[in-house]
Amino acid sequence: MGERTQILAFNGSPRARRGNTEKILQPFLEGAAAAGAATETLYLRELKIRECQGCYACHMLTPGLCAIRDDMTWIVEKMLASDVLVFASPLYVFTVSAYLKALLDRMMILGTLELKVVDGVVVHPPRFPGRKWRWVVISNAGFPEREHFEPMEALFRRFAWAIGGGTQVAIAGMILKGMGELFSAPSMLPNYGWFFDACRQAGGEVVREGAITPATQAVLDRPLLDVGPDEFAALSNTFIELAVKKARSRKTGQEKTQGTAVSG
Ligand SMILES: Cc1cc2nc3c(=O)[nH]c(=O)nc-3n(C[C@H](O)[C@H](O)[C@H](O)COP(=O)(O)O)c2cc1C
Repeated sequence: MGERTQILAFNGSPRARRGNTEKILQPFLEGAAAAGAATETLYLRELKIRECQGCYACHMLTPGLCAIRDDMTWIVEKMLASDVLVFASPLYVFTVSAYLKALLDRMMILGTLELKVVDGVVVHPPRFPGRKWRWVVISNAGFPEREHFEPMEALFRRFAWAIGGGTQVAIAGMILKGMGELFSAPSMLPNYGWFFDACRQAGGEVVREGAITPATQAVLDRPLLDVGPDEFAALSNTFIELAVKKARSRKTGQEKTQGTAVSG
């Protein structure tokens, strides 16, 4: 065995530590840590990562250094010191959250401006060719079908290929979970021990074997509920109705306490 695997995870959920994405990410990292990795999670909503301004200073004026001085400066250093990057985000409009998109855009600094051709396709060569990464993608979505994740999956496969100049980044696995809102209901969590165990197993495999094995992937891909679309929609509508009532009565309660309720 070589040196300790360094894993840097990004959680791009606005709900951060309290969200559904976190419930998948942390067991994955626990499994990785149990297999000997050093792990760290950065919660993007707690950091300052401004949107890329498209000035190209990082390519033309100060190669490898962004004109925006914010948390991305040290995050890039951390990325370069890591072997595995984990991108975790809820599915937002078929892709990553805005927090994670800002990070991905700012990662353009990891390529150089001049172009080369790999397998007949034009790419930016990597700025740090000595750095090879494995990437893991973790997401969850409200809807049940796997198809909802297609744009996100394509995004990471293309980006890994492009930013790695075709050779530097390997996708070690993806955990893409439909019906992830079930994790918001504490009463449902005891039903999903099998899934969280598989997340732990996946984390261990990425460290020991370099990728999630097909057997574990098959477990990770099992649906959280064995229901068809009609039943799922009916169940969800009941759940939504209750959640709306609860949210409204909580708001009314707060307004009464603050003396701001409007009568009539
Ligand atoms: C702005 C927004 C966009 C969303 N877009 C999708 C979507 O395209 N497909 C989907 O199935 N769920 C979508 N959802 C639902 C979230 O993916 C879902 O609530 C998820 O469990 C949130 O994870 P989190 O708790 O980690 O933030 C969206 C939610 C929000 C607030």
